[in-house]
Amino acid sequence: MKKQIKTLFIGDFPKDIIEKNANILASFMSVQDVKDLTPLCIESVKNTQVIVSRSGCLFEEPMLKFATHLKLLIKAGAGTDMIDHEYCKRQGIFVMNTPGTNAQSVSELTIGLVVALARHVVPLHSGMEEGRWLRTEYKGEEISSKNVVIIGYGNIGRRTAKLLKTFGCFITIYDPTLSQQEKDHAILEGLNIATCENCSVKDMDFIILHPSYNPTSHHFINQKKINKMKKGVKILNLARGNVMDQEAVLGGLNNGTIGGLAIDCWWEEPPKYNPFQNFSNVIMIPHIGANTKEALGRSTKEAINLIEKHDWKNTKK
Ligand code: 3PG
Repeated sequence: MKKQIKTLFIGDFPKDIIEKNANILASFMSVQDVKDLTPLCIESVKNTQVIVSRSGCLFEEPMLKFATHLKLLIKAGAGTDMIDHEYCKRQGIFVMNTPGTNAQSVSELTIGLVVALARHVVPLHSGMEEGRWLRTEYKGEEISSKNVVIIGYGNIGRRTAKLLKTFGCFITIYDPTLSQQEKDHAILEGLNIATCENCSVKDMDFIILHPSYNPTSHHFINQKKINKMKKGVKILNLARGNVMDQEAVLGGLNNGTIGGLAIDCWWEEPPKYNPFQNFSNVIMIPHIGANTKEALGRSTKEAINLIEKHDWKNTKK
């Protein structure tokens, strides 16, 4: 008989997939987010061997100190920036993720946002809601033949590049982690490689942010780069809030350098203070890149697969 593992799911994971795997998950509990960490949930954290979570819950000492039996902490998705890796290492907690499982969903959303920014979909929709027929007020633009830079060429960046190619964009990528072989392959695919961080954004019509969040990508969009940008550039952040310097971006919007902005990932989620509410050229969505039934299904299955494959026999806790 397979060893059964006590698992806590934090997030809106599909219950049917979890329940189908009840044979390996001895007991499981599903809560929506950290705000639901009630005394009952803390009790569950205390006994659990595995936590599977989306972002939105901070895995740092104040929470993890209760998890004395925790062996595996799985981020169902790519970014593990909400986890204190050092603390986990000290406590012998393995941190894993499921990269790629939500990439298609994030990339499809990116394309939708590119089109929505280019065609002013949101202010036109608001106009209709107010009974205004703004047919001639907003001139849109085509995406075809536009210069687009994709910052971060991982699972998501690659898919976004592939989808945008079908629109006929001129695509540049910037990713300091790429090997020469990966760069050569990207060139064969018809992409340009930006050779320096600061010049990557120069002359671009669209800047798409897909890097993983780490000290290198922190405030990638900053004042220095905004000063180099083409007037009216459109920026899309589907990475993490802190990939952009909030003050610098606000300045860029106010002086017209930034002509459109789409924010899926925020500096604080949800934001207590949101200075972007009054800009008609800013699209705001609440970190929904991975919120599709397909992405959540794949990431849940992959997380359960990681639990099953883990070497539990030699696990002491
Ligand atoms: C990720 O890190 O994979 C994405 O930001 C999606 O994360 P989420 O599932 O927590 O929304």
